[in-house]
Amino acid sequence: MTRHLIIAQDKGGVGKSTLTRAGAEAVPEAKIIEIDMSSRLRELGARVTFFPMRADRDAIERTGGRAARGEYDAVIDAIASATIPTIIDVGANTSNSFFHVLQNLSDDLASAGVEMGVVIVVTSEPGALAEAPSLLASAKTFARARFVVQNQMRGAVDESLLRNIADGAEISTLPEQILDEEAVAIARDGGFATVAKLDPGKLSRKFGMARASRIRRDLARFRLDAMQAICSPANWLIG
Ligand SMILES: Nc1ncnc2c1ncn2[C@@H]1O[C@H](COP(=O)(O)OP(=O)(O)O)[C@@H](O)[C@H]1O
Ligand SMILES: [Mg+2]
Repeated sequence: MTRHLIIAQDKGGVGKSTLTRAGAEAVPEAKIIEIDMSSRLRELGARVTFFPMRADRDAIERTGGRAARGEYDAVIDAIASATIPTIIDVGANTSNSFFHVLQNLSDDLASAGVEMGVVIVVTSEPGALAEAPSLLASAKTFARARFVVQNQMRGAVDESLLRNIADGAEISTLPEQILDEEAVAIARDGGFATVAKLDPGKLSRKFGMARASRIRRDLARFRLDAMQAICSPANWLIG
């Protein structure tokens, strides 16, 4: 059996790639599959296989499903043939249609020795909260394990609302990060894999010692908090 952990949410900018990067730190042997319009997880190099998705989902739907039929074939084949635990970062506006395909393939994937786990990321944004229940319900049909990560980047989600949405899935929390703008840029361009490789001297010469130190602390905390939020799903992945 090879386990795969899917990080999903149709809403963009909620922290899917952030949690994928944290998962990649937590499970160094894991491979990464990135499904998105453009590749972002560059720092992970050969660990990542990127599958480009078309930007205009409405245009795809307008073809009456024809254009969409084979859309995920390459991804599914990569999943079915993987022999190493894999984390799958599902880009914005893709989760619903991808889950639909996985639902149909549930038996075939099981026969191919694939076990799926799903992490649904929610923020306090109405769009993210609205998408979560249907994704979690859909995941029930093909996933062995379901998790919810509450990303507090836009504030906390009401606790009982969160429990309702989670529908029994295990919940963890990523606290909001107050980040220096340079830390934001480093996280965006280099993820967490570059944090340990930052050159303190070089950073100090560029930003001064005080700010350089703050940038490094911001990034170290962000990385640790994100790894903590993905800890349970990561344990399931290697379990
Ligand atoms: N808890 C948080 N606090 C502050 N910023 C965050 C937090 N989580 C994510 N971010 C930032 O929000 C942006 C969007 O996150 P990203 O992981 O790219 O979202 P997605 O992959 O869902 O589109 C990134 O710049 C990321 O660093
Ligand atoms: Mg992303």
